[in-house]
Amino acid sequence: MEKILIAPSLLAADFMNLETEIKRINESQADWLHLDVMDGEFVPNITFGYDLVDSITSQLEKVADVHLMVNNPIKFVEQFANAGSDYFVFHYEATDNVQAVIDEVKKYDLKVGISIKPDTSVDAIIEYLDQLQLVLIMSVEPGFGGQKFNPEAVEKISKLNDLRAENGYNYLIEVDGGINAETCELVKAAGVDVLVAGSYVFCDEMNERIETLKK
Ligand code: DX5
Ligand code: ZN
Repeated sequence: MEKILIAPSLLAADFMNLETEIKRINESQADWLHLDVMDGEFVPNITFGYDLVDSITSQLEKVADVHLMVNNPIKFVEQFANAGSDYFVFHYEATDNVQAVIDEVKKYDLKVGISIKPDTSVDAIIEYLDQLQLVLIMSVEPGFGGQKFNPEAVEKISKLNDLRAENGYNYLIEVDGGINAETCELVKAAGVDVLVAGSYVFCDEMNERIETLKK
């Protein structure tokens, strides 16, 4: 089996001490840092934008995985490319023209991912799978950390895993929401590649918890 990648979600970090938190991530066994950008429209919460992402990527020694929970993501591709993002992951539900967003992301030195909410099926994005570097399955309603894992995500991960094997696609499968020592076993068995974890890893036992998720 391929190695599982861990992407701690900055949303659960101590925002008063971001420099320390980024150092902690850099020194940990985490592979990526997951950055949740929310606009207060696509989701009922506002977080941070490209200025903060730019500052963080200037110190970050890990892959910058930017999860855009914003309407009209095409408007922000250039800014997040300039902010040092590695992955630009937008929501299928946030745009009328998915293909245009993919095309825009591909103009930059960025990897492209699509995320789907719990009520969206894998079938909705099937026509785009051959062009993607990542698919992000939301196992909670996007907007807030600390929610309970929805097991319907497991079936979607299995389906994406099968489709990848059958068609030779190259995307990574990532899951986000309610990931902990128990739920990680379910998604690993289904073929997930990247685990996003916020509240579970941003604590005093960060290193032990990352190790638990990786096992
Ligand atoms: C929720 C965000 C998640 C969030 C996960 O909309 O996309 O990345 O930080 O937090 P936990 O791991 O606490 O569910
Ligand atoms: Zn996220």
